[in-house]
Amino acid sequence: MSNDLTLFSTPDGGLTVFHARYGEHYSSRHGPVAQSQLVFVEGTATHVHLAPHVLEVGFGLGLNFRTTLRMRPEAAPLQYLAYEAHPVSADMLRQVSASAVSTGLPHPAWQAVLESWDNAVTQGRLDVQRGKVALTVIFGDITAAALPPQWASAVYLDGFSPAKNPEVWTPEFVAHLARSLQPGGVLATYSAAGAVRRALSAAGLEVHKQRGLAGKREFVVAHKEAVRDER
Ligand SMILES: C[S@@+](CC[C@H](N)C(=O)[O-])C[C@H]1O[C@@H](n2cnc3c(N)ncnc32)[C@H](O)[C@@H]1O
Repeated sequence: MSNDLTLFSTPDGGLTVFHARYGEHYSSRHGPVAQSQLVFVEGTATHVHLAPHVLEVGFGLGLNFRTTLRMRPEAAPLQYLAYEAHPVSADMLRQVSASAVSTGLPHPAWQAVLESWDNAVTQGRLDVQRGKVALTVIFGDITAAALPPQWASAVYLDGFSPAKNPEVWTPEFVAHLARSLQPGGVLATYSAAGAVRRALSAAGLEVHKQRGLAGKREFVVAHKEAVRDER
């Protein structure tokens, strides 16, 4: 395990990881699974989408991917494209996901991730397909990537905080993410900071603050206008 990373128990019986270099945890210390479900999956309505295309900033511990799988029928289609600049080891992914009691039995796609992860990291890219679930993780800096235009029904903007990881929250990068949304697509993020909301708005998205877990921290969803039927 990298010296930068320390496992940390969460009150929901799970584990998260503290990243010493960023000085932050990978997910909410209070209820990582509940936050992932509320902010990212329900926030973008990915659980009820017929054929979602998810673009994620920061695959991290794979929690949002696992939550998305858990909230959809096992046979339902899902296209998931994530970027990760500093991948953890497969061993750490295994430990953290085994601890998350509330995420239930692992989906076959998650098993495939664990089996191929370490090799994929050395190759710079992971591709997994199980049934109608397709996951690609690209190991690199997403701010330097050419993202697919108008591809995503949902963007999960889940970098570390704007204070610690500013490059994934700049107005330029947020506009780049907005261009990758389909018409009618939704971006969700746990940060409701004013600068983040202004960047989303400047990118042409309609921004809404939502009440967070237990009515506490707010989060943000931002919608791209759907194409109007002019007939
Ligand atoms: C809060 S954690 C993500 C947690 C993750 N979404 C999950 O469900 O477990 C933030 C992640 O963003 C990654 N990250 C930060 N800057 C990045 C960049 N420029 N490109 C790609 N990944 C980045 C970090 O390495 C870290 O894994």
